Amino acid sequence: MIDLTGKVALVTGASRGIGKACAIRLADAGADVIVNYVTSQSLALETAAEIQTRGRRAAVVRADVSEEDDVAAMIGFVEREFGQLDVLISNVATGGFRTLDNANAKHFAAVMRTNAFAVVQLVHAARRLLARPTGHAKVVALSSHGSRMALPAYGLIGASKAALESLVRQLALEVGNDGININVVLAGLVATDSTRVIPGAESMFAAVNERILVRERELTTGDVADAVLFLASPLSDLIQGQTLVVDGGVSIRG
Ligand SMILES: NC(=O)c1ccc[n+]([C@@H]2O[C@H](COP(=O)([O-])OP(=O)(O)OC[C@H]3O[C@@H](n4cnc5c(N)ncnc54)[C@H](OP(=O)(O)O)[C@@H]3O)[C@@H](O)[C@H]2O)c1
Repeated sequence: MIDLTGKVALVTGASRGIGKACAIRLADAGADVIVNYVTSQSLALETAAEIQTRGRRAAVVRADVSEEDDVAAMIGFVEREFGQLDVLISNVATGGFRTLDNANAKHFAAVMRTNAFAVVQLVHAARRLLARPTGHAKVVALSSHGSRMALPAYGLIGASKAALESLVRQLALEVGNDGININVVLAGLVATDSTRVIPGAESMFAAVNERILVRERELTTGDVADAVLFLASPLSDLIQGQTLVVDGGVSIRG
């Protein structure tokens, strides 16, 4: 049983999808949760309300994680209002789906900034709050198969995810001895707002469900959140700088 009572967690992009599922899982485990969003205030408030019905404290903060000032202001809010930060989930990704042939340097810079560099900005801003003389604070970032595989129209996001996994290893080297564990959950394809609109989504989901090696199951946001919860808990204290794949075995098939 994972008990995060007395812990404070910040989840970026928690208005919907995987981020929302992580926020709810952390609250179910006893944590108070700060819900970050950028445009969907009403959805973020819904996530916060679901956390509060579990008897946990929740707050909603608008911040664009690609903007250094927004990130600093959000962490300042956490310090003022909650006085501590024990768990940081860097979940946001954006970018749209386009072939590299249709990508320019502006697209590349924007995707890298939001999907990869945000975790560096977040850890930099929160390092003093996360650092501890004993015990461990936890940082978890979300990646995808695009970090390792060539997928249609996924070149920019895939590159950003490869960079993200590398940055997490590097951060582990730089902040590990401050009492901060930082790891990645690499999720397989899950139905969320962003994946339902991928051209050819239906056949992609059908192909994944054909290949999954876990009987009578489809990967859900809750399955991803369970792995995030594990990496946010004391059960993973000796896991550092790693990428945990949660895809029902789809990616090991030849
Ligand atoms: N879904 C999948 O199949 C899948 C698979 C593998 C990995 N992942 C990864 O899991 C993570 C979540 O994916 P998802 O499918 O749940 O995403 P999603 O449904 O598109 O939700 C994205 C979330 O990020 C927020 N957001 C976007 N840009 C932001 C910014 N600049 N600053 C702050 N918040 C921002 C959105 O807030 P607003 O609502 O306010 O816009 C929303 O809460 C991503 O890192 C993704 O790459 C997803």
